[in-house]
Amino acid sequence: MIRIIAILGGLFFAVAAFWALGVGAYTAMTVETEETVEHEFYVHPKDVSFSSDGPLGTYDRAQLQRGLKVYQEVCAACHGMKFVAFRDLGALGYTEPEVAAIASQFQVPGVDPTTGEPVLRPAVATDYMVGPYPNDIAAAAANNNAIPPDLSLMTKARHDGSAYVYSLLSGYGPIPAELKAAYPDFETPQGLYFNQYFHNLNIAMAPPLTAAGQVTYSDGTDATISQMSKDVTAFMTWSAEPKLEQRRQTGFVFIGFLIFATILAYMSKKQVWAGAKPKKRKD
Ligand code: HEC
Repeated sequence: MIRIIAILGGLFFAVAAFWALGVGAYTAMTVETEETVEHEFYVHPKDVSFSSDGPLGTYDRAQLQRGLKVYQEVCAACHGMKFVAFRDLGALGYTEPEVAAIASQFQVPGVDPTTGEPVLRPAVATDYMVGPYPNDIAAAAANNNAIPPDLSLMTKARHDGSAYVYSLLSGYGPIPAELKAAYPDFETPQGLYFNQYFHNLNIAMAPPLTAAGQVTYSDGTDATISQMSKDVTAFMTWSAEPKLEQRRQTGFVFIGFLIFATILAYMSKKQVWAGAKPKKRKD
């Protein structure tokens, strides 16, 4: 009796599963989903490579320094990098006095020593690279109601990380004619900017890098829009994972040790069992 019930129960679930599969497949084949402009014209990040890619990749210090310069001269007007302290910039190859000099070019909130009033003061090495706005309300008010996000961890916070950030920065452009033809009603609202790499095609950030030579590189690199985008993205990749090189190094040493330990274990097993004869099986 129990057996019959069990079989019937199993049969019931099997039929239900097949039924659901059938209905799902039929729906997927027959229902027409309306194509949206975002789905049709959003563009996946460009194929771009950085020296830190791959298991053996390392940061290009000169590029990180250029990226810092782009951040400092362009992005810092709106974005903070609150998880990066100026002293961390030593990892980009700067000496202590150089770090202090860079820090002193940034303003951070402080207190007037005589009146106790809040003021802005030049940063020192131990300060963090905070954003320019005292709070989110001020940030939103100054940017058409959109808050410029902190950039310290941005390359970790978006799908396709560095490639996405690079594509976004270098991807502003006019609305393509095909889009206008397919969606005549589409328009970029006042205060937003068309960018095919942004998920809804309209971003509240005005194109930050608009002209070649906007930043003057001291190492003579040609400051094209693409180059500046790439350098600042490399800098953000570093800020999101400053210990990347050490992590990989430790990983390689560890794997080397594991291989060594495995060989050792195999050899000692051989040694320990060398004298033992295989038992004769009785059957
Ligand atoms: C005039 C102010 C301003 C400047 C300068 C600026 N940004 Fe932005 N940025 C914004 C605002 C506002 C947003 C929010 C946009 C939104 O959500 O629509 C934003 C968003 C972003 C985002 C996040 C996009 C996303 O996927 O949510 C990144 C990355 C970014 N900015 C990078 C940069 C970099 C790098 C620079 C310097 C080259 C820079 N920004 C310069 C205002 C600015």
